[in-house]
Amino acid sequence: MIITIYLTSGVAVLLLVVDNKATVTYVQLLKEDLVIMRLVPNEGPVPEFRAGQFITLGMPNPNEGGKIVRRAYSIASHPENRDYIELVIRWVRKPLPGRLTTQLFNAKEGDEVLWLKPSGKALEINETMPDGSPDTRRMVCIGGGTGLAPFVSYAQHLHHVGDKREIVVLHGASYVDELSYKDLLTDLEYDSIQRGKDKWNFRYRAAISRPQEWFNRSWSGQTGRVETFLRPRADGASPLEDLVGEEITKENTIFYVCGWQGTIDGVMDFLKPGGFVTEHDKRSDGSFEVKYESYG
Ligand SMILES: Cc1cc2nc3c(=O)[nH]c(=O)nc-3n(C[C@H](O)[C@H](O)[C@H](O)COP(=O)(O)OP(=O)(O)OC[C@H]3O[C@@H](n4cnc5c(N)ncnc54)[C@H](O)[C@@H]3O)c2cc1C
Ligand SMILES: NC(=O)c1ccc[n+]([C@@H]2O[C@H](COP(=O)([O-])OP(=O)(O)OC[C@H]3O[C@@H](n4cnc5c(N)ncnc54)[C@H](OP(=O)(O)O)[C@@H]3O)[C@@H](O)[C@H]2O)c1
Repeated sequence: MIITIYLTSGVAVLLLVVDNKATVTYVQLLKEDLVIMRLVPNEGPVPEFRAGQFITLGMPNPNEGGKIVRRAYSIASHPENRDYIELVIRWVRKPLPGRLTTQLFNAKEGDEVLWLKPSGKALEINETMPDGSPDTRRMVCIGGGTGLAPFVSYAQHLHHVGDKREIVVLHGASYVDELSYKDLLTDLEYDSIQRGKDKWNFRYRAAISRPQEWFNRSWSGQTGRVETFLRPRADGASPLEDLVGEEITKENTIFYVCGWQGTIDGVMDFLKPGGFVTEHDKRSDGSFEVKYESYG
């Protein structure tokens, strides 16, 4: 693909974007419109990336004369997994079938997709404070729907490297069968309980936003959208604070949020009164307590 960019001088520069090819090696349909998919590059190793980044996939669209439609997908596997790239993808159905997701949901194991190398800085794990000291704050990761993907990558990566920070992953979904990584994240929490928090300090909780629906009748956990984990109860403490056992402050916690803009806004409604600011609005000294990526 050739992209034309215009410099401020008016000079046009042609950039050549090279699509790589990968093979779909695993398709796990969680439900009609939610899939976990693995890809292996046809040539060369699994590309290098950092936890929290996304990869751009492309497929020719037969309804558009074979034109390649490209979209970004957060990587759910971790950088140390050199066997495949894993993604969790929602089929967009309404108001019109999504141009790429409809193609991806037609793909079978053995089919080919195009990809551009992983990128994105918004959800890179923060490692240092503005003064250069290590960031040792508790990490609270809030994923709405498929917005959980970057935090599945975080959890596996941080577990792999033996990170000692306290990590809490909160997932919000409409239905219990959309808790896409419940097994993996529950196992990571068991490992924390068994080995001790000094070795691996990890917790996972989920919220179901449509608890009244019959399909969700077995759900006994948090109800409401995922940001309700931050809503203070009558005694002043939030469910998240009950979970971690102390008041959440901008000094002790950094938040990572991925999902609908409404989820980001809902989280900030609870955090702003406590003085939390996002990386986008960081203070003049470079400090911030929230990183996010929104679906727009
Ligand atoms: C950084 C980043 C990471 C992402 N990670 C993930 C991920 O991990 N998993 C995931 O599932 N998604 C992810 N996405 C979303 C993904 O990139 C796509 O936007 C999504 O899959 C929809 O693509 P599509 O081509 O199928 O839909 P599109 O065809 O682009 O449609 C988008 C919306 O517009 C509507 N629409 C399309 N055409 C029309 C029309 N003519 N008139 C009216 N409405 C129309 C569609 O119904 C749909 O609601 C990510 C996005 C970003 C930016
Ligand atoms: N990084 C990214 O940009 C990114 C990553 C992943 C996915 N996406 C795209 O985002 C779209 C939907 O994602 P999804 O299907 O995973 O989400 P979803 O399953 O529709 O929703 C997940 C949760 O978010 C809640 N929610 C829905 N709309 C909301 C809003 N406006 N504000 C706050 N909360 C809201 C839902 O609550 P209710 O039950 O009340 O609806 C549910 O609890 C897809 O098209 C996907 O391609 C983008």
